[in-house]
Amino acid sequence: MDFRAELDSPLFTHFISHYSHPTGPDLLGRTEPFFEWQESRRQAGLWPYSRSLESAPTPECGVRSETGTARQGLNFGSQDYLSLSTHPAVMEAAQRAIQDYGLHSAGSAMLGGNTTPALMLEKALAEHLQMPHVALFSTGWGAGFGVIVGLVRPDDHVVLDALSHACLQQGAAAATPNVSRVPHLNNRAMKRKLQEIRARDTRNGVLVVTEGLFSMDSDVPRLEELQAICHEFGATLLVDVAHDLGALGPQGTGSLGLQEMLGKVDLVMGAFSKTFATNGGFVATRSPSVRQFIRIMGGPHIFSNALLPMQAAVVLESLRIVRSEEGAALRAKAQENSLALRAAFQARGVKCLGEPSNVVPVQVGDAKVARLAAKKLFERDIFANLVEYPAVRLRESRFRMQVMSAHTLEQVQRAAAGVCDAMDEARAEVEVRPSATRAARHDGRAQAEL
Ligand SMILES: Cc1ncc(COP(=O)(O)O)c(C=O)c1O
Repeated sequence: MDFRAELDSPLFTHFISHYSHPTGPDLLGRTEPFFEWQESRRQAGLWPYSRSLESAPTPECGVRSETGTARQGLNFGSQDYLSLSTHPAVMEAAQRAIQDYGLHSAGSAMLGGNTTPALMLEKALAEHLQMPHVALFSTGWGAGFGVIVGLVRPDDHVVLDALSHACLQQGAAAATPNVSRVPHLNNRAMKRKLQEIRARDTRNGVLVVTEGLFSMDSDVPRLEELQAICHEFGATLLVDVAHDLGALGPQGTGSLGLQEMLGKVDLVMGAFSKTFATNGGFVATRSPSVRQFIRIMGGPHIFSNALLPMQAAVVLESLRIVRSEEGAALRAKAQENSLALRAAFQARGVKCLGEPSNVVPVQVGDAKVARLAAKKLFERDIFANLVEYPAVRLRESRFRMQVMSAHTLEQVQRAAAGVCDAMDEARAEVEVRPSATRAARHDGRAQAEL
């Protein structure tokens, strides 16, 4: 299909944000313009989202598009960083838990839904993080939203790194109108913002929010300095370690371990869904009262069914592996894959953002090129997620490739070659000069401000 005649149509020029604030009295009917736009992308093969896997998230697997096209190929789009979701010991732990506890948690953790594996997991995580009190949530999203909504009241302030995850942004917006964003990873801007808040308000709380590893950019904050700035201004620091815990650092302690900050950050939250082979999340604190407050006052813990016993058992076994020699070897293999993937892109003159981690963000820039390239990549039987505005800044579309320990170097080379070829072909079709797209500016402006 030749798209040249369509390049200036909404198929290529519109983003989700064009449709995200419909107006008018008909709540249901006003969803239709978005659906029509999305459907036109789907039918043109330009909607690379909501695909389904037809097997476990292994390096080679079957993938079906939302319109039903099935392909078999190379998977660089799953968040099973240490490939633990198919690890025999983890699968056995899941089966044992199903036999011992059944399938269901059968209640909120407050009302009978807590289980023995969940209690064991709280203890194991507390040791791993050197934070004695842990509250579990049935999703990482709920942990991020719940910790903010649990602690912050309308007179308080939340200051977020501008690229913080949606669960943190939405938690902040639900908790208080006093929400600020500072440029990504900019500790000086954070200090200025806290100074400014404290100059007019010493009576209320300030929560500062960042991540251990930003998953769209693969970059990391300087945590010791940030924690010190927070304490200077009587603010509390929350770090979301969803992407780095287990996957990076000594014994899988993530950025906290790498920066010798274990047990030294005010609040830590995370998700099990990247490295620990199942869904779920947690908040860790040094204070028993903070733990109880977040559980009862942060909606998702009390008003949502607890983590399944099978999920808790899976995380527990995954954590045992993460901390073992085997875990170190799996991390080393993932790191080898990540470095090889970056090197393969560099050899073709394609820029990857950030630092080596399981996430390899491949800069595309121009949205038209990115949409076409994503289509071509799928047709080449390579699966990598396209990330577009507003999930990233405008003109900074990218492929977010995710390496797993189970990938081979041959698969890594094949994937990089496929992505580069798809991008080259797409660029030629869109007739955008490579320099204009590859050098898309990375200026740290908040996506929310655009
Ligand atoms: C930084 C971050 N925090 C929280 C979450 C939410 O975790 P989950 O998808 O496990 O609910 C995610 C996952 O998308 C994430 O990337």
